[in-house]
Amino acid sequence: MRERVVVKWGGGLITEKAELKTANHSVIDRLAAELTEVVNNGIDVVLVHGAGSFGHLKAKQYRLAEGRTEEEIEGPMTQDEAVTAVRNDMIELNDHIMAALTAQEISAVRLPPHDWVHGTGLDFEAKFDLFNSAPSGIVMVTFGDVVSRDAPFDFGILSGDDLVARLVQELHDVKRLVFAMGGVDGVLRHAPKEGEAQELIERLNPDTNFTGEHATEMDVTGGIGLKVKRGFDAAKHECDVMLINGEVPGRFTSACLGHEVIGTRLTVP
Ligand code: IPE
Repeated sequence: MRERVVVKWGGGLITEKAELKTANHSVIDRLAAELTEVVNNGIDVVLVHGAGSFGHLKAKQYRLAEGRTEEEIEGPMTQDEAVTAVRNDMIELNDHIMAALTAQEISAVRLPPHDWVHGTGLDFEAKFDLFNSAPSGIVMVTFGDVVSRDAPFDFGILSGDDLVARLVQELHDVKRLVFAMGGVDGVLRHAPKEGEAQELIERLNPDTNFTGEHATEMDVTGGIGLKVKRGFDAAKHECDVMLINGEVPGRFTSACLGHEVIGTRLTVP
């Protein structure tokens, strides 16, 4: 049977996080080239990508993660207009990803979560059959998005980290989950500080202590803490989980193929 891997390209890796709607084209193109190698090794890939500056900044301004609010929000748009705007921005980012895959002659299909998901967090309702019906060799692509929720919330933010954990649970035969991140080699013992050596945790179990960084001033989802949490949710399903630095050429491919690579491996007792 063909192997299946689920991968997440973090928003901080594929975009300039602080600059509104700025894609990191060189990184996206290289990751697409690395993905070709994975696909050519006979592995079926589900690719989930984050939002970075195509999602968090507007979502934060219009408080979309909290759902509908009666409180006054500063800005030219209503919350409903912001929902549409962020969905469109995510499609625009996804267009860049799809174009990079096409340039590598990878056959890919995109599934925007606002079309097939209801609810946020790990327990969202979704049409997972869409993924099971994919023919071998086709890369299925989805991403963090603004999705519908029950009233009174009406909408909310679904993180790609929640998506990958559920995909591992629902698709059953997923061999590996790889989180490719920007700027860090994996999970660090302490949040990185300018000029200080970083201590990489190579093997992380649920009891390992670390102090992760989370830029709450611009991030509407969970930072490294959510990745690790969702990674452990996936690891319970006999799936190998790795967090790696996607900025270093070759590491993404190596991790997807199950080769030894610098990064953090999650281990469950
Ligand atoms: C966030 O998705 C989605 C939006 C803000 C619309 P993620 O949580 O997967 O994004 P990153 O990886 O942190 O950018």
